[in-house]
Amino acid sequence: MIDLATLAEPLDIGGVSIRNRVFLAPMSGVTDEPFRRRAHAHGAGLVVSEMVASGELARGRQGFDLRIRHSGLPVHMVQLAGREAAHMAEAARIAAGEGADIIDINMGCPAKKVTGGYAGSALMLDLDHALSLIEAVIGAVKVPVTVKMRLGWDEGALNAPALARRAEQAGVRMVTVHGRTRCQFYNGKADWGAIRRVREAVAIPLVANGDVASPEDAAEILRQSGADAVMVGRAHYGAPWMAGRIAARAAGVEERAIPQDAGAMADYVAAHYQEMLGLYGIESGLRQARKHLGWYLDRHVSLLPPELRRTILTSFEPDTVLAALREAFQRAEDAPDLRSAA
Ligand SMILES: Cc1cc2nc3c(=O)[nH]c(=O)nc-3n(C[C@H](O)[C@H](O)[C@H](O)COP(=O)(O)O)c2cc1C
Repeated sequence: MIDLATLAEPLDIGGVSIRNRVFLAPMSGVTDEPFRRRAHAHGAGLVVSEMVASGELARGRQGFDLRIRHSGLPVHMVQLAGREAAHMAEAARIAAGEGADIIDINMGCPAKKVTGGYAGSALMLDLDHALSLIEAVIGAVKVPVTVKMRLGWDEGALNAPALARRAEQAGVRMVTVHGRTRCQFYNGKADWGAIRRVREAVAIPLVANGDVASPEDAAEILRQSGADAVMVGRAHYGAPWMAGRIAARAAGVEERAIPQDAGAMADYVAAHYQEMLGLYGIESGLRQARKHLGWYLDRHVSLLPPELRRTILTSFEPDTVLAALREAFQRAEDAPDLRSAA
């Protein structure tokens, strides 16, 4: 009988010990270093870099090294995307050289920019080619290699069990399955029960993913899929503590460092904002931080005056943004009924 408490147990991924089984999903443009540090501090079992285009990394294109840089967290996991075995192998060597403890291969991204190049979930259309990439990466590095995939390309080709089995035979140490097909993109609801067919196909650790947003969801996806761990993505928007919250519930302990009132929330968001400006520089950081600010406001401050929201999301002056943020959260404090639940 699988229950939520299972998620509090450590997990071994090819000799790397992971402190619990609730993971932050890799999300390009979202789970950068500041975000991953926060998720880790709240108690997420494992955090993964945004996907890194192996071709760009192998060719030394500027900016891509930021995605693989070691964040100083106990386990550094880097995700690579691509379709050329030689680039994937070279990128894996570069990531391992940066201290990656685990290398994940992206076989799930549905974006046309990625599948159009036959990478991401397009690899599920050609398992022989997918396997050639897996073998190239495993051959290039000593660290454990894992794969993240979808259920298949479409309803007529649900080949995740076959890909997972072949990946396991090739030496992959963990698979993550998002319970949607590529053609579903992010529509409909993830099919948690369909992940069980992968469970029946492999003995290596299996991570279930898709639409988990609460401890109750986590217990249910485990029950339906038979997976060993859970990965949580979009439920982290405006709530970098979501995986940590689920892990704390599983362990029956207090949640860690989640801001409890509007003043603490304003400090939290301001600190996250400043971390992003510090990482990317003011010009790029301002733009990249906006989506996070929008999510924080959506989740924690309802009925915000439109001008205040506009200032926060469009100003090019960090001090103006910070002052407007404080005002927004102050209003939420003054009118608790306007505050939505965290
Ligand atoms: C904005 C965004 C970016 C994503 N980027 C990646 C990525 O870089 N690598 C990857 O494997 N999956 C990526 N995903 C997919 C997520 O890791 C996850 O599989 C998916 O969002 C389903 O989980 P969720 O319902 O908990 O969000 C991305 C998803 C979103 C929404």
